[in-house]
Amino acid sequence: MCGIVGYVGERMAIDVLLDGLKRLEYRGYDSVGVAIASEELKLFKDKGELSKIEAQIPRWKGKMGIGHTRWATCGRPSKNNSHPFVDCTGRIALVHNGIIENHLSLRKQLEDEGHVFTSETDTEVLVHLMERHYNGDAHAALMAALSQVKGTYAVAAMVEGDDRIVVSRKENPLVIGLGVGENMVASDVTALLSLTNRVLYLLEGESAIVTAGGITLFDADGNKVEREPSTVTWTVEDAEKGGFEHYMLKEIYEQPTAIHNSLLGSLDEIYAGAIIPDIEINSVKLVACGSSSHAAMVGKYIIEEMARLPTTVELASEYRYSPGTGESPLTILVTQSGETADTLAAAREARQRGCRTLAVTNLVGSTISREADHVFYTNAGPEISVAATKSYITQLMAMYLLGLRLGTMRQTLDRAEVRSLSNELRSMPRYVSGVLDRASEIEEAVDMLAKADHIFYLGRNINYPTMLEGALKLKEISYIHAEGYAAGELKHGPLALLDANTPVVAACVNDHTREKMLGNISEVAARDSPVLGIGVEGDRELEAITDA
Ligand code: M6R
Repeated sequence: MCGIVGYVGERMAIDVLLDGLKRLEYRGYDSVGVAIASEELKLFKDKGELSKIEAQIPRWKGKMGIGHTRWATCGRPSKNNSHPFVDCTGRIALVHNGIIENHLSLRKQLEDEGHVFTSETDTEVLVHLMERHYNGDAHAALMAALSQVKGTYAVAAMVEGDDRIVVSRKENPLVIGLGVGENMVASDVTALLSLTNRVLYLLEGESAIVTAGGITLFDADGNKVEREPSTVTWTVEDAEKGGFEHYMLKEIYEQPTAIHNSLLGSLDEIYAGAIIPDIEINSVKLVACGSSSHAAMVGKYIIEEMARLPTTVELASEYRYSPGTGESPLTILVTQSGETADTLAAAREARQRGCRTLAVTNLVGSTISREADHVFYTNAGPEISVAATKSYITQLMAMYLLGLRLGTMRQTLDRAEVRSLSNELRSMPRYVSGVLDRASEIEEAVDMLAKADHIFYLGRNINYPTMLEGALKLKEISYIHAEGYAAGELKHGPLALLDANTPVVAACVNDHTREKMLGNISEVAARDSPVLGIGVEGDRELEAITDA
């Protein structure tokens, strides 16, 4: 995923940019580039990792610059396709995240006018459009360029000899970090934290002129606007590895704290109606992508059980294609980042359909948090590893808290049940710590999975989405093919794939699905598949029919 940084102030811009780009490396990238605007524009870009090419980047003295990490989409990874892009005069530089859909027709027009292109990318049209419109005002030129494109963008540009970075966004995040006598822009707040924790999130369609002395903000119609900055509570240390071998491990170990932070205050807020006011709710729809959609599926079981409300789950990427039923369910958008394009599009569509929307998100100030009618923050802290771990478990906490709130509103839960469920939730950090304390046992148990090419994850009822999440995580992290199945579906086809080389991970806990799960595990074992059981400590019956 691409990353943008920009700096203007008193320091050597190149140092700030390289630091910012390193903090964005976790998002993955294949090329990197920087441009510094001193008296004349300096540019360095290439494909490859920053650590391998950093030594070749000259330490120019300029105090303003922009930088980019590219994850190739339009045009293969190469030096020419890397950002920043520079216009034909060599004076304007620009970096972009997003997609310019009409780039081919624009490119043709610009080439006919004599503009010479150096890359295969969609982005390059933007810098030539700026050149076409530049008349001494970088902001006006950027606005004119953007008015001609169809697509999405977070964009930062600057002109040689000028003292302004100009930025705008549409469906891609962009945040401005406010320092003293210096300011920064980035596509991700993580890149700014070493400079400042005072930030201004650009809203949809907004643009800004960023100088060392201040920010001029414009709304989507070009009118000047003012807004108070937000304060980010994450520290640089929160965003760093803290002694762990990698970020994912660190974030797995942060789960107890994340759960604690996510519950902190939330139980009170939930009961005080701060998150869902006393409104009539006849049904609920949960909409999300990826891991968040698995949390949403868990949410369906919880809300139906606790609040007796008809609840459906839809993938955000599919939501817009469904015709809608004419009803207006409370629509809960679950998204860690609050910036996932399909989930944002679904939120907008839901509002158009007359639905009240509630965002469950981790990122304060994210687009979804500003666009939804109500927001529930999961407070998991920064998720650097990209793989959802602590953010997923806090989404599950959010689902329980929402279930409690809806159940109380609808009086489907009595006081004693609410008290007992709340106490159980408060014990969650302790339970999770208990599992983490057994990491070495878990490490031994997963040996049987490490060499497999295919693995099945089985569960029933509320554990079924958790098994889908297990399979997703395994695919994403180990590149081993894994499928999550509702255990009862196994006999309808996939059983044919099981043999001694295809391990199965099965969730079997003490609930009403236990007997059926024990039966499924026996079926699997009969086909010689090694079984890793996930159950309650001391469950001898489960231990007797599983291999680990
Ligand atoms: O930020 P979001 O929760 O909207 O992201 C949705 C998915 O991309 C995300 O949950 C993804 O599946 C996980 N990071 C995978 O570990």
